[in-house]
Amino acid sequence: EFIKNLHGLVETEEFIAQSLGLKKVIIVPGNSDKDGTVKKEMGRAAARFIREILFPGAVMAVTGGTTLREVAATMPVGNAPHEITVVPARGGLGEDVEVQANTIAAIIAKKLRGTYRLLHVPDNLKEEAIRLLATDQHIKELVAEIKSADILVHGIGNARELSESRGDSPEETEELISQGAVGEAFGHYFAADGSIVKNIHSLGIRLRDLRNISTVIAVAGGEKKAAAILSVLKNNHEDVLITDQGAANKITALI
Ligand code: BG6
Repeated sequence: EFIKNLHGLVETEEFIAQSLGLKKVIIVPGNSDKDGTVKKEMGRAAARFIREILFPGAVMAVTGGTTLREVAATMPVGNAPHEITVVPARGGLGEDVEVQANTIAAIIAKKLRGTYRLLHVPDNLKEEAIRLLATDQHIKELVAEIKSADILVHGIGNARELSESRGDSPEETEELISQGAVGEAFGHYFAADGSIVKNIHSLGIRLRDLRNISTVIAVAGGEKKAAAILSVLKNNHEDVLITDQGAANKITALI
């Protein structure tokens, strides 16, 4: 808190929380675009916050990404409430294995001495194939469990970067951007006003499930992501934002 006050971060936390209707905003000093240790500190702040709100029997869903990987890496081992279940929020979004939601869910569950379940949905499946998969009894039960999560922890990406990293063709990326996509979270692309531009076909949590999840936590930082973060938050489903000073200052300027 002392360090935060030195940087004026407490006021910024309150300003962003009030402006965007969030219950809590946590800002770590620095800008993760420029300094890799800042992403780790964001992860640590998120891990600490998650430990505070976990309760026995809680189901927690997590997304993939390099920021969530830091949440998993900095999660302390042991001493957690009993019978925590960690699940991936969605399956098959085209990430490398180290930053896949499945991998991150398993690491966090092991550290919390809880259990995890994995959702194996290959990337780039056609809509019909996904619909068919969804009729499988095991997958049905798993998806129902994912949708019943108490806590969701998700990353946020820049629409262009996410589209490119998911192997969209240059034309597809340009179309997405020309339709106004700015940010991305759990397979949805958001415009600057918070409206949805596109949904990626997969299984798991969708936007409409978020109102049943009591704590939705976004973890994302870096000045370059400010507009993307704001686009997702404007959709009004998040309760908590954990970010860095680089993103927070820019968000404050954009609000
Ligand atoms: C991806 C998720 O893995 O990570 C996205 O599927 C998320 O939903 C993105 O927006 C954020 O990535 P990073 O590496 O910037 O934390």
